[in-house]
Amino acid sequence: MEVIICPSYDEMSVRAAQEVAVVLNTKPNAVLGLATGSTPLALYKELVRLHKDEGLDFSQVTTFNLDEYVCLNPTHEQSYHYFMQEHLFQHINIPPESIHIPSGTTRNHVAFCDWYENRIKECGGIDIQILGIGSDGHIAFNEPGSSLGSRTRIKTLAKVTIDDNARFFKKAEDVPIYAITMGVGTILEARKLLLVANGDGKAGAVAQAIEGPVTSMITASALQLHPDSVIYIDEAASASLKMCDYYRWIQDNKPGAPKPE
Ligand code: PGA
Repeated sequence: MEVIICPSYDEMSVRAAQEVAVVLNTKPNAVLGLATGSTPLALYKELVRLHKDEGLDFSQVTTFNLDEYVCLNPTHEQSYHYFMQEHLFQHINIPPESIHIPSGTTRNHVAFCDWYENRIKECGGIDIQILGIGSDGHIAFNEPGSSLGSRTRIKTLAKVTIDDNARFFKKAEDVPIYAITMGVGTILEARKLLLVANGDGKAGAVAQAIEGPVTSMITASALQLHPDSVIYIDEAASASLKMCDYYRWIQDNKPGAPKPE
């Protein structure tokens, strides 16, 4: 697990976007796993800039989003369908048929979740999965107690997540309490995991995920089990880590690190 501490949110986002661009430039038909939330906004802005200014091509890319609220239809402003259109898809050259987001309106959750899992496999598996982290340590909507082997399913959101997300809705009561989410087991099958986190509100969860035990109580700690995971954080989100000097030393001295003149 690589931990990269960046001086600012903007630098964190640009460097994380470069990780995605490297995958897409190496494999133009890559399968990209996407996340929503406030954290990846600048990462998506940078991907859009790379597309517009530097020709980053999405024409052969397939995407899978991590999750969607149950009961919000795609035109609802707080649905993740809407978020993705707004912040990424309408600005890049991805064919609409290559986009996958869990359905918030399916009546048959079990069948839908099975189909989603199978569709990821049919497309060859996810090459790089972007992740945020909740203040309760969740990845996607895998709330504390979610099995580290869990698959795509309907999940009841934790109270803390509902409270965290209430800022996007008119009233706290409007936040849906169910979501369809990829499971931790589904996420761990991606070839590379890229987690981004910023701000002091995430410092505790980040420290538990990176330096705490692997536990279903902090589902982001499952990244410790993955052979190729990279975590980009800003200074504020690094505040509770004990080994910051070590992570910086590794970044400065790893093979291929730029040497000072
Ligand atoms: P945020 O959400 O980026 O809006 O903080 C992250 C998450 O809950 O995964």
